[in-house]
Amino acid sequence: MSSSSQSQTINKRKPIRIWVDGCFDMMHYGHANALRQAKAMGDFLVVGVHSDAEIEKHKGPTVMKEEERYAAVAACKWADLVVPDAPYITSLQVMDQYDCDFCVHGDDTTTTADGSDCYQEVKDAGRYRECKRTQGISTTELVGRMLLMTRDHHKRRSSIASVNNEDLSTFSSSPSQQNKSEVKISHFLPTSRRIVQFSEGREPNPGDKVVYVDGAFDLFHVGHVEFLKRAKNFGDYLLVGVHDDQTVNAIKGANNPLMNLHERVLSVLACRYVDEVIIGAPYSVDENVLYKVYKVDVVAHGNTDSLPDIDGRDPYENN
Ligand code: CTP
Repeated sequence: MSSSSQSQTINKRKPIRIWVDGCFDMMHYGHANALRQAKAMGDFLVVGVHSDAEIEKHKGPTVMKEEERYAAVAACKWADLVVPDAPYITSLQVMDQYDCDFCVHGDDTTTTADGSDCYQEVKDAGRYRECKRTQGISTTELVGRMLLMTRDHHKRRSSIASVNNEDLSTFSSSPSQQNKSEVKISHFLPTSRRIVQFSEGREPNPGDKVVYVDGAFDLFHVGHVEFLKRAKNFGDYLLVGVHDDQTVNAIKGANNPLMNLHERVLSVLACRYVDEVIIGAPYSVDENVLYKVYKVDVVAHGNTDSLPDIDGRDPYENN
């Protein structure tokens, strides 16, 4: 075969469409990492998100409501299409309806209320693939950090606190955490490879209008997504400064932030409107750095009042 007819054959290949489904409650970087891995297995990623009623029936009540969960998944840069109210038990019928070749799920078992495997039908049909579950993060762990009210998650240790499972039992919990008398609150230790995997690595194009926003972006949610979407509309390239743990704690007090700097950076990087992140940005916006080093054209912030810096100054007074 000549090289031109070979490339025509390659170009004519039918795009591989992948189905992933789940609850995506308090959408975190573990969920985003599953979508990233699934997308890398094909060309087009369809994400089915279960309704509140379906999850309640099989697993228990959610923290976030379905509209918030649908919007959180839609904001993830690896999701090409979101299917709301997807069935809890994955069927060949729903995969065929969306023309999906196979289904991807993390390497844990998801069961229905009566204990049967949600993916048995697609497994039997040979249309099931697995990706690696991300250790150290789950919805249950995030709820645990809120209940514990400790600041241990600011420290760089892998596993340091535990919370009684009874306190978490009102929330739907992940399979690995069900039926345990206590849940360890483990803390994710990031690698540079993970940050590279989540990062776009795109420089601004010549003439691009660069917009800068900053914040804690703790427990990344649809409010953050909407803010970043609007900020991106001010220009072509969105640079996001994420404040470090000590800064957020000094300004907001208590056990804030609930997610450490690297966890918050991954959540921000997974958002489709974000082009680049400054890891550990200063709370007060430094005009010299932003305008000279990062060539920022516009600094944007929400229309709520910003808390003053520790020296009492308005963090945006020079912008
Ligand atoms: N997932 C993952 N890593 C995590 C959490 C979830 O890879 N730390 C994957 C799941 O395996 C699944 C997808 O994300 O393929 C959606 O998960 P979801 O249905 O929301 O359920 P849980 O696994 O229970 O998520 P969580 O533990 O955070 O509640």
